[in-house]
Amino acid sequence: MEPTLTAPHATADLISRNNTPMIRLIDIEKVYQTDTIETVALNRVNLTINRGEFVSVMGPSGCGKSTLLSLMGLLDEPSGGTIEIDGRAVTSYSDKELARVRNQKIGFIFQSFHLINDLSVLDNVELPLLYRAGTSGKERRQLALAALEKVGLSARTKHFPSQLSGGQRQRVAIARALAGTPEIILADEPTGNLDSVMGEEIMDLLLGLHRHEGTTIVMVTHDENMAHKTERLIRFFDGSQVS
Ligand SMILES: Nc1ncnc2c1ncn2[C@@H]1O[C@H](COP(=O)(O)OP(=O)(O)OP(=O)(O)O)[C@@H](O)[C@H]1O
Ligand SMILES: [Mg+2]
Repeated sequence: MEPTLTAPHATADLISRNNTPMIRLIDIEKVYQTDTIETVALNRVNLTINRGEFVSVMGPSGCGKSTLLSLMGLLDEPSGGTIEIDGRAVTSYSDKELARVRNQKIGFIFQSFHLINDLSVLDNVELPLLYRAGTSGKERRQLALAALEKVGLSARTKHFPSQLSGGQRQRVAIARALAGTPEIILADEPTGNLDSVMGEEIMDLLLGLHRHEGTTIVMVTHDENMAHKTERLIRFFDGSQVS
């Protein structure tokens, strides 16, 4: 049978797309200006995160790790340099496209959870899905319940964040990041508030997402053991990558 003319092109297109780095930071600077002092949080950072990679970031307190993640997650803008997502400079995205990338492509696990205290555990996990067009209420509930099951919190769906331990709040935050099945997970010390057993379980969960679903993960951690389970370890010091 004659091969169709479109197939080879379609395949080549797919391959070239898949080779495009997921996240690229080019000469990134971030300066925070307050009344009294100017802090250079990131200083000329050049970093490429490939599609499907699991990278950990380590470094002392204040060296810029959370700042790095918030820029990668498009939650803040750099003072200088270029951020590319999927090979496209972020500045070329319209506001609408940016909102879609932030909401659908990226799952964020914040260092300080960012849960809403007036909402139940289930509603907190469902919240980001509300902004997703074409997802019904029933689907949202199913996705949220599935994510809560993955983090072992099925029995706590009706609780409020104030009724949970620190580790359980951390797991709600993780479920919220997983619920939308993002391509990229940015996790700021996801095991920082957990005991070693729960920390291992969360780490296994992230490793499973990476292996089975090809999720690209960037994880900040203070734990060398966790870091060594990832494919690449990046060390920061004073706003710059040192290894
Ligand atoms: N919104 C802000 N305004 C002013 N300065 C800030 C702001 N956010 C962070 N900084 C400063 O930028 C530097 C980097 O902060 P960042 O939170 O990225 O560090 P970190 O590596 O995540 O530290 P930690 O391990 O303690 O979480 C710090 O000196 C911090 O004080
Ligand atoms: Mg931090």
